[in-house]
Amino acid sequence: MSVTVDTTVGAPPFSLWPPARVRLLTPRLELRLPDEDELGMLAGTAAEGVHEVGQQPFGRPWGAQPAGLRARSVAQWHWFTRGTFCAARWTFDFAVFSDGRPVGAQGLSAVGFPVRREVASGSWLGLRYQRRGFGKEMRAAVLTFAFDHLGALSAVTGAYADNFGAIGVSRALGYKDDGCEVADRDGSRVLAHRFRMSAEARRENWPKVDVVGVDDELLHLCGTKDHEGYQALALGDYPHAR
Ligand SMILES: CC(C)(COP(=O)(O)OP(=O)(O)OC[C@H]1O[C@@H](n2cnc3c(N)ncnc32)[C@H](O)[C@@H]1OP(=O)(O)O)[C@@H](O)C(=O)NCCC(=O)NCCS
Repeated sequence: MSVTVDTTVGAPPFSLWPPARVRLLTPRLELRLPDEDELGMLAGTAAEGVHEVGQQPFGRPWGAQPAGLRARSVAQWHWFTRGTFCAARWTFDFAVFSDGRPVGAQGLSAVGFPVRREVASGSWLGLRYQRRGFGKEMRAAVLTFAFDHLGALSAVTGAYADNFGAIGVSRALGYKDDGCEVADRDGSRVLAHRFRMSAEARRENWPKVDVVGVDDELLHLCGTKDHEGYQALALGDYPHAR
């Protein structure tokens, strides 16, 4: 297939990157990859706090780190997901914008998507933006994108048993219980719940989601369409990476 590259002097590198063209629009939110300035603002939102003291929604104590380190890790994670994106393993690390401000992040990822057609999700919101229904809206946005545009057949997610916000989002959107497992949360034995949804699930109470920017280049990159030969070089094979 042919790839159209904008070679205009000064064209942002983003024009080379199909995931950067995707926009997910809900009644109150816009999800898209942030540019560098927006990534800095998103990191600032994380620095202000992502959960109450004493809670630990993540396996590593990310939310309890010094604010500067938490902010830096937002940027590093975003660059990592962009730099390692390929059909075999990808993550969209969407920034979530409310009234033009980045208020959190919603990830959508897959391993072996050309065959497995399954996606997973992960998210956070700045503490002051929680409990307004944004969590449901942003998860519904990436699920709609995955099921209706990328060709995903199933979606999974999980949360520690004491993470009532994340569990509340999954239950509200209609995921089915998919068992539980014992997890090591930074040295503590805790129970984690798994949830699963199929593309045919009824979408009762989901917000309206508009998706723009999906094109053939994106579908090849994600492995929805034949991706053989589409990756310029397999990751790790770039001469400067040796
Ligand atoms: C998980 C998270 C993104 C959810 O976003 P949110 O905007 O706060 O959630 P919503 O307002 O959409 O609420 C979804 C449901 O959960 C419930 N809920 C949310 N927070 C809750 C809490 N702390 N306790 C009990 N119920 C809660 C809501 O009442 C709602 O239920 P309803 O639909 O029956 O009314 C947000 O809480 C967050 O960022 N938490 C910290 C990071 C995190 O835990 N990430 C996920 C790791 S697995």
